[in-house]
Amino acid sequence: MTLLPVPHTAIIVVAAGSGTRLEAGAPKAFVGIDARSILRHALDGVFAAAPAQVVVVAPEGFEGDAATELREAAGARGDLGRVVTGGRTRQESVAAGLAALWGDARTVLVHDAARALTPPELIDAVAAAVTAEAGVIPALPVVDTLKRVEGDAVAAPVDRSALAAAQTPQGFPREPLESAYAAALASGVEYTDDAALFAAAGHPVRRIPGAARAFKITTPDDLERARHLLAAERPAAAPSPSTLDRSGVPLVGIGTDVHAFGGDGDLWLAGLEWPGEPALSGHSDGDAVAHAIVDALLGAAGLGDIGEHFGTAHPEYAGAHADAFLRRTRELLSAAGFAIGNVSAQFQSNRPRFSARRAEAEQALSSALGGAPVTVTATTTDGLGFPGRGEGVSVTAVALVVRVGDPSASVRG
Ligand code: CTP
Ligand code: MG
Repeated sequence: MTLLPVPHTAIIVVAAGSGTRLEAGAPKAFVGIDARSILRHALDGVFAAAPAQVVVVAPEGFEGDAATELREAAGARGDLGRVVTGGRTRQESVAAGLAALWGDARTVLVHDAARALTPPELIDAVAAAVTAEAGVIPALPVVDTLKRVEGDAVAAPVDRSALAAAQTPQGFPREPLESAYAAALASGVEYTDDAALFAAAGHPVRRIPGAARAFKITTPDDLERARHLLAAERPAAAPSPSTLDRSGVPLVGIGTDVHAFGGDGDLWLAGLEWPGEPALSGHSDGDAVAHAIVDALLGAAGLGDIGEHFGTAHPEYAGAHADAFLRRTRELLSAAGFAIGNVSAQFQSNRPRFSARRAEAEQALSSALGGAPVTVTATTTDGLGFPGRGEGVSVTAVALVVRVGDPSASVRG
């Protein structure tokens, strides 16, 4: 077995808080952002940075859960991690982490697990900037206009150019940090962060630029922000249609839809209203032609299906017409980097008599799809099956799409 060298940098990840402001019913570090917890995301960042010893400070009773997260994040470098129990305050938790450091740690970073999405580059930058004397914090300029207040009275403006918002990880040379912690313990003073404690012991602290992603998850809004950031970065759940689309080969999709007659009001079909014709029933207007086209397009682009994007979970489409469905579908395709080649649909039904309004229907559907050619044909079934018995309409559509850009780039439809 090869023994890898133990790095001289140690990162204490404090995760022992209770998360009272998040109100998530569990200690904050174990609240999920997506499939992964806040602590797991923080540790993923830590292990993506340059190798370091990692001490996770867990809430009492959650040491086993923390060890699981640590093992999974560490992968092959499980030898670099350990878990200790935290204290009543953040400062006590950091002290517990400090007491668990390996003998050969020279530089110590203290990091809030709550800053779950901190980029590994920021961790590396802090570690690299620590000197034998000086501590380092990442900090962002303050953008809000600040006021000094007394109760609800505004007493005075505050010059924000002289201020910066501190983040973590904060990095320090080990021995001065340990003695500063010992001094703080002896004095009984609680400092707002490690840099304040370190500076109070007479040591210099410098700042480097922070990162927006290193924001702290404190409130439910912060958690939402983290969730949105991750969701926006996740590749579409849909299969990226293999390598074919990359070489410009068009992709084909098929959609079918069936609706029974029996809805209220007039018929809506192929994007048109048909006064006097029996209506189709459905969650929306029952326009089976439009719905088959939506499925053909989504299917071609590998973006799921109509139920996912327009089903009962989307009450805004109750009663909606073809126009709304097709416009939204085109937006989904555009966001995923697809342009529409053409669409062809055929419906089977005894009614309505279609040929007189074919051009009008094709025009309406095409315009909702940004001008992509749409053709619609109609046929009867010689009296056979449910369309033949006049019970409903059956539609099949095929669509061709082509990848024209990166997902989320805006493209012509
Ligand atoms: N922390 C800790 N031990 C404590 C208190 C806080 O390890 N006794 C950690 C938290 O887990 C968090 C970081 O310090 O990663 C920053 O603290 P904060 O955001 O205030 O977290 P909580 O104390 O958990 O939240 P709250 O103040 O809302 O209860
Ligand atoms: Mg707290």
